[in-house]
Amino acid sequence: MTQKQLSQLLSSMTLEEKAAQMTQLAPVNFGFNCITPLTGPDTGLRVHPKTAASIGSVLNCDNAEDMIYIQTEHLKNDPHKIPLLFMADIIHGFKTIFPIPLALGCSFSPDSVREAARIAAEESAASGIHVTFAPMADLVRDPRWGRVMESFGEDPLLNSQLCAASVEGYQGEDISAPGCAASCVKHFAAYGAPEGGREYNTVDISDNVLRNSYLPAYRAAIDAGAKMVMTAFNTVDLVPSTANKKLLSDILRTEWKFNSPVISDYNSVGELIEHGAAKDGYEAAEKSLVAGTDIEMMSTHFTNHLQELLDNGAITEQMIDDAVLRILTLKNELGLFENPYKDASADAETALHLSEKNRAAARRIAAGSAVLLKNDKVLPLNISRGSGKIGLTGPFAASPYILGGWSAGIKTGVSLYEGLCGKISPDAIHFEDCGDLGSCLSGNPDIPAPDKDFSARFNDCDTVIIAAGEHQDDTGEGGSKAFLRLSPNQELLIRQVHDAGKRVILILFSGRPLEIAPIVPYCSAILQAWFLGTESGNALADLITGTINPSGRLSMSFPYTAGQIPVYYNHFRTGRPLCSENADSRYVSRYLDCPSEPLYCFGYGLSYSDFQYSNLQIFPEDSAIGSLTACITASVTVSNVSDTDGCETVQLYIRDLSASIVRPVMELKGFSKVFLKGGESQTVTFRITKEMLSFYKDGRKTFENGSFLIMIGRNSSDTLNKELYITEHLFEKEIS
Ligand code: GLC
Repeated sequence: MTQKQLSQLLSSMTLEEKAAQMTQLAPVNFGFNCITPLTGPDTGLRVHPKTAASIGSVLNCDNAEDMIYIQTEHLKNDPHKIPLLFMADIIHGFKTIFPIPLALGCSFSPDSVREAARIAAEESAASGIHVTFAPMADLVRDPRWGRVMESFGEDPLLNSQLCAASVEGYQGEDISAPGCAASCVKHFAAYGAPEGGREYNTVDISDNVLRNSYLPAYRAAIDAGAKMVMTAFNTVDLVPSTANKKLLSDILRTEWKFNSPVISDYNSVGELIEHGAAKDGYEAAEKSLVAGTDIEMMSTHFTNHLQELLDNGAITEQMIDDAVLRILTLKNELGLFENPYKDASADAETALHLSEKNRAAARRIAAGSAVLLKNDKVLPLNISRGSGKIGLTGPFAASPYILGGWSAGIKTGVSLYEGLCGKISPDAIHFEDCGDLGSCLSGNPDIPAPDKDFSARFNDCDTVIIAAGEHQDDTGEGGSKAFLRLSPNQELLIRQVHDAGKRVILILFSGRPLEIAPIVPYCSAILQAWFLGTESGNALADLITGTINPSGRLSMSFPYTAGQIPVYYNHFRTGRPLCSENADSRYVSRYLDCPSEPLYCFGYGLSYSDFQYSNLQIFPEDSAIGSLTACITASVTVSNVSDTDGCETVQLYIRDLSASIVRPVMELKGFSKVFLKGGESQTVTFRITKEMLSFYKDGRKTFENGSFLIMIGRNSSDTLNKELYITEHLFEKEIS
């Protein structure tokens, strides 16, 4: 349709039909029992199947057959034949499940994230899905919050680059093309900063922190072309995001020029009443509409009150028409007026879902997302003949439930045991079942207590792999936890096996950084496995046996203890920082009973190779010969001094040493993955631009002359540093 035809369609619609476009329900709400479970509370909302004509989009229908049926029924009843938009939570894969986003963040690989999103779009489009509610761009600093698993982590730059890559992967060049889906970035804004890490809790951050830390990733997704934005459940500055005019109108529409639909989160319009921000549904609808919410998900206050709001002059016809036109435009961009079913096809589902090609990609990306945290020369496993058996136990040793939350209804993947059997003879594996791990909701978040001679069963092994962690149901939405240690019997199992003289290789399955300091001394190696998706077991076996050299680097800090939280690398400076000179002083910023630093810092990860850094060089003047404007370049030599080929993630950090507002102790400003053969060296160069050194202050982006510390290294606490005084004119000089 042309824009003119869309406008003509809009002018022919009644107010009731416009309200329908602004409403999204799940199939069960209007009589279609899709197999996808609800992703929030069942408010009991039930409307007549014929009322399918009175909605504009469908939440979480997950198969072609249902989509085709619902779309067909709808088009029969809709006088304007406006097709339904089908939207769903495709967060880290659809049928082929990729690592949870927090693990994908550890890949430091936009290419991997883009590829995973591309495959997810192809698989979900075949099932009739037009829009995915991803990427989740919420910056996270508190592992007590269950949804850290959905985020790319604690850094604005890494989150921004991976969110942009997600959008590019989902949307391709043209969202109407086969295998493409529109991307809805969420949750706008700062949902990842709930007080206490408690789900749906208050977010109270300053405007400078909001703009410098929390907003960049949403902006990057929108700049990459994201077609929708979803509001958040939380308040910002004590105003719920769904009715927050500063967020939805001033920043999103006016500053960022975003002119596509904004959708509420699940019943978040109705929840304004619970927040105490609206006295009833009428006021909830009014405040959400006036702020800039276009589509109401899983509640019907728009439908119920639009006429009255108009009659009372609380909203205008123009506001409604603007919202509906944005929705019709998106449907048109997807080509739905010409083909309401787009890619939906049972045959396409069969051909694409969990194809060998997709699984191979999932296996490779999973291996790049795990992080080696400790290795006392016990990995890769020596599995040569005569090297004895390898013990294997722990609740995740043979469990197929390793996909992580938001796995689109898929339940199982390749277990670690299956993966190991694919790499080494099952005869070389001595597996002992330790019982299942319960979840917090099941009332027993532990494994059975190991009997005292459990370890003695491994009498034919000197090394035992223990696959432990947290139940995946205790992560994700509604998965906040105040205690982050491994369950008591899992810790007991690790200690027992260690005390029996075995070398323990801990493979850790979790949706968040856990509090593992108490068991680190008992482990000879620790591999953070997160929830790596369909090919988890095969990817872990590739890493454990050395087929693949670990290359993951932490996207989120691991605290020593939950009492440290929030602990994140790019924290702000204080007037009394702890340093070597004042380590004995009482009056410094620290804990009396715990280190200030995390157990494992952002950007940390080990390899089977040994990378050394040297020769940090800064070129303030002649760095960009031939380019139009100057910039600063910083370069370092990275050497692989081992004989094992490997991939290193070289990280550039910058500290603004003095500015008109307090700045973080350091900020990631670039990263580069380099592959080095054993014995090989490479010079890695970064361009430092004015934009990288600029920051928001009181709503405006600014650059200030001053001294900066340029840091390049293997992680956020191990860098080579040089100080440089930088003035604005340096970036304005023309270079021939
Ligand atoms: C959930 C989540 C959101 C999801 C939506 C639809 O409550 O907050 O991320 O996209 O509802 O399932």
